[in-house]
Amino acid sequence: MGILEVTGFSKHFGGLWAVRNFSFESKKGEILGIIGPNGAGKTTLFNLLTGFYRPDTGRAVYKGENITGLRPHELCKRGIVRTFQITQPFANLTVLENVEIGAYNRIRSDQQATQEALRILGTLGLSEMQNELASALPIGHRKNLELARALATQPEVILLDEVVAGLNTKEVDDMLEQIKGVQKEGITIIMIEHVMKAVMSLSDRIIVIHYGEKIAEGVPEEISKDAKVIEAYLGEEYAFAASK
Ligand SMILES: Nc1ncnc2c1ncn2[C@@H]1O[C@H](COP(=O)(O)OP(=O)(O)O)[C@@H](O)[C@H]1O
Ligand SMILES: [Mg+2]
Repeated sequence: MGILEVTGFSKHFGGLWAVRNFSFESKKGEILGIIGPNGAGKTTLFNLLTGFYRPDTGRAVYKGENITGLRPHELCKRGIVRTFQITQPFANLTVLENVEIGAYNRIRSDQQATQEALRILGTLGLSEMQNELASALPIGHRKNLELARALATQPEVILLDEVVAGLNTKEVDDMLEQIKGVQKEGITIIMIEHVMKAVMSLSDRIIVIHYGEKIAEGVPEEISKDAKVIEAYLGEEYAFAASK
């Protein structure tokens, strides 16, 4: 049984089905990659999974409990948290304060929240920047901060929306190491990623979404050879070229 099981999720905007009859499960401790062309419905799927949108149809079960329709903060309390493709820190707060806010999800005492925030900043290489305003961070560090804020909530399942997009090669490699570290802590990861090198090297399994529907699912090697997947990416040839 998966830690998170989704059956028949759909979401439409007017006449457009952004996500359509989407079912999958996420296994405890795995890294599940979600890929698909621009506009395929990946971010909408994350919005459904994390309570930012309510599904038009379908059901989500987390650790045996029906969580369909719960709000983001309710899901966060239960251990499901996400990062945003466009990073969303509290710009006028410091890096440390941003992460402390995440920590208050589970921790009541100020002192412990600070301690936990400092620990996470240390593991993600952000200690030196703890007193900078979040708005002052360059993109690479903003992505780390986004991850730090999510980790501070002490999640069991973390959803990463394009965390390596926009990073340079060195920053990508650092981020990949950090994500592996998150998995080692026993946290289940679902990651949307456009950078094929990242998703192919990290994922235990990959699901491919196209026009809102699941078109393939398997281990990275199977996915990279799947005819439907290659077809879906025609015109986005960089995707598979970049994985070599
Ligand atoms: N809030 C919204 N209102 C209307 N259309 C939307 C909204 N969010 C996404 N869409 C549309 O739904 C489709 C899927 O978008 P999205 O989930 O952002 O794709 P991806 O993350 O795979 O690039 C796209 O056609 C997009 O234009
Ligand atoms: Mg997206």
